[in-house]
Amino acid sequence: MTPPNLRIRPMTSSDIEGVRAMAAVLPHAPHWTHASWETLLCSVAPRRVLLSAEAAPGVITGFAIASLMPPEAELESVAVAPEFQRQGIALALIQAIEAEIRAAGVTVLLLEVRPSNASARALYHALGFAPIGRRPGYYADPTEDALLLQRELH
Ligand SMILES: CC(C)(COP(=O)(O)OP(=O)(O)OC[C@H]1O[C@@H](n2cnc3c(N)ncnc32)[C@H](O)[C@@H]1OP(=O)(O)O)[C@@H](O)C(=O)NCCC(=O)NCCS
Repeated sequence: MTPPNLRIRPMTSSDIEGVRAMAAVLPHAPHWTHASWETLLCSVAPRRVLLSAEAAPGVITGFAIASLMPPEAELESVAVAPEFQRQGIALALIQAIEAEIRAAGVTVLLLEVRPSNASARALYHALGFAPIGRRPGYYADPTEDALLLQRELH
C-alpha cells in the first residue's frame, strides 16, 4: 500500500538535491552530479521521462527515468528511499512511466539489471519483465554481467 499522500509527478530542478541525497545511500542508484541531473531533465535526443515520488511536499522518496526511442524505451533507473521501500512506490513509478511512454508510441520497455540485485529483480519479475539476454561485463565497480529484460506494453 503506497503512503496516503504519495504524489508521482514530473521531476523538476528543485527536486535534484532531494533526489541526490536519497540516491547517495543506495548502492545501485545513480550517483550523478547536480549538473548531470540538470542535463537529463533537458534531454531531447533521446527524449526522457523523469518522475519523482513525493510523500509530502518537498519530501522526495523515489524516482524513475526512462529514455524513449519509439517503439522502444529503456528504463534507465528506479530507486526508492530505504525507509519507504516495500510500500509499492517503485511499482507506482514504473506504472506511471509506462502510461506516459505508451502515449508516446512505445510498445516495448527494456532494462538492464545486475544479477546480484535481488530486490530489483523481484520487482521486475512482479511487473512481468522477461529475460531476453545478457551483456557480459556490462557493469563496473564491481564488474558484473547485465541481465537484459523486456516487457511488452499493451
Ligand atoms: C528495487 C527498488 C527500486 C524497489 O522499490 P520498492 O518501492 O521497495 O518496490 P515496491 O514496494 O514497489 O515492490 C513491488 C514488488 O516488487 C517485489 N520486491 C521489491 N523489493 C523486493 C525485495 N527487497 N525483496 C523481494 N521482493 C521485492 C515484491 O514483489 C514487491 O511486492 P510486495 O511488496 O507486495 O511483495 C528498491 O529496492 C531500491 O530503490 N533499490 C535500490 C536501487 C535499485 O536497485 N534500483 C534498481 C536498479 S537501477
